[in-house]
Amino acid sequence: MTNKTFKPCDLVIYGALGDLSKRKLLISLYRLEKHDLLEADTRIIGVDRLDETSEGFVEIAHKSLQSFLNNTIDEQIWQRFSKRLSYLKIDLTQAEQYKQLNAAVDAKKRVMVNYFAVAPFLFKNICQGLQSCGVLNAESRMVMEKPIGHDLKSSKEINDVVADVFHEDQVYRIDHYLGKETVLNLLALRFANSIFTTNWNHNTIDHIQITVGEDIGIEGRWDYFDKTGQLRDMLQNHLLQILTFVAMEPPADLSAESIHSEKIKVLKALRPITVREVEEKTVRGQYTAGFVKGQAVPGYLEEEGANTKSTTETFVAVRVDIDNWRWAGVPFYMRTGKRTPNKRTEIVVNFKQLPHNIFKDSFHDLPANKLVIHLQPNEGVDVMMLNKVPGIDGNIKLQQTKLDLSFSETFKKNRIFGGYEKLILEALRGNPTLFLSREEIEQAWTWVDSIQSAWSHNHTAPKPYPAGSWGPVASVALLARDGRAWEE
Ligand code: BG6
Repeated sequence: MTNKTFKPCDLVIYGALGDLSKRKLLISLYRLEKHDLLEADTRIIGVDRLDETSEGFVEIAHKSLQSFLNNTIDEQIWQRFSKRLSYLKIDLTQAEQYKQLNAAVDAKKRVMVNYFAVAPFLFKNICQGLQSCGVLNAESRMVMEKPIGHDLKSSKEINDVVADVFHEDQVYRIDHYLGKETVLNLLALRFANSIFTTNWNHNTIDHIQITVGEDIGIEGRWDYFDKTGQLRDMLQNHLLQILTFVAMEPPADLSAESIHSEKIKVLKALRPITVREVEEKTVRGQYTAGFVKGQAVPGYLEEEGANTKSTTETFVAVRVDIDNWRWAGVPFYMRTGKRTPNKRTEIVVNFKQLPHNIFKDSFHDLPANKLVIHLQPNEGVDVMMLNKVPGIDGNIKLQQTKLDLSFSETFKKNRIFGGYEKLILEALRGNPTLFLSREEIEQAWTWVDSIQSAWSHNHTAPKPYPAGSWGPVASVALLARDGRAWEE
């Protein structure tokens, strides 16, 4: 992650009046402004097909901040921020309309950063439109995010369309989990602390769990979600990305090439899940009506606009084996679901039990050490250890205690930003380390496609689980078969 002088940018948001732009991008840009992280001369150009003026766009941005900022708008910051905004009405399917961009951006003095906040079927039009108006140069960048396809084939099609116009090093593929503070902290934890560097392998680790649970349902996104499902929506990207950070070999440095190449090696070493193993190694679930935080909530099939016969999964659990020297015999268990009892994202590294127990008075079986990395909601790291209970009477008594490094306590003065702020900033600064390479995405699809096609082949129906629970009982059985249990 380099430190250089940054050029001001013309950030062009295609789909500026859409949900992603209003809920995430404009909010994150305002926060960057607030913390003085935008170059003074950077401009934000909203592009959409609706009849709107720059003044109208400024008003829309203000309303978005009122709705989604979760904070009061600072008038002074807003005045500065709003001056950066302008709007162009372009029908993205009409190549000749892109000419308007020539007058709006200044490719000689600034870098043009093109944020594709639209559905992928429009990518081809945008790429061709940009090419035909001649506004791009070697410094221009494009930013896109999931869904980058729904399988390997469609993902390749999208990447091919983009590759016709942008060179791979101009393409910034976002997975917003890679902007989260604790995911980045994994690099520090693993590669700056000798107690972990030497113990991070099959000699000392028994197994690793990755949990990403959300108490929300599908939030009115039935159409998108039902075609996608939890495997493609969450596991293919966010969970596999976390896994690569946990499992990768030490990179030579923090450059994009070094990090990407180590992550790809992990993805290539994932053992494919075959038709024969899929029932034993994976669990598909779908939530039924239940209670979340004391509130009654409908089942997936009763959500607004639902197709009552849908067999889309809202929960997945999977046992992952990584076929390489470091991880031979160490399973990674991953689970992710909608309508879990609370929002919880965490990684639990379970160390091996000691070979012999001399503290039988305290524990028949000595509990093994655990490293728990909380990604959200409360960022931090806990280490579960055994300590002697203070006292002079009788035998040594042990108790399990927690070494607790809560980020909000330890780093009180440092604000923890959301993923988008970090990633937008990196895209504006031209640092691709935290973005996904084409090869990574395609490798992840190859592995996920094997599960999806095994489910289709076996007609694996999702198992019901009540909203407000951690998935179907089969998810407990997935670990119980191996003599293990989820961290609760
Ligand atoms: C998105 C998924 O990528 O991530 C959503 O499409 C999900 O379904 C969201 O709710 C979760 O993100 P976060 O940052 O709230 O954990």
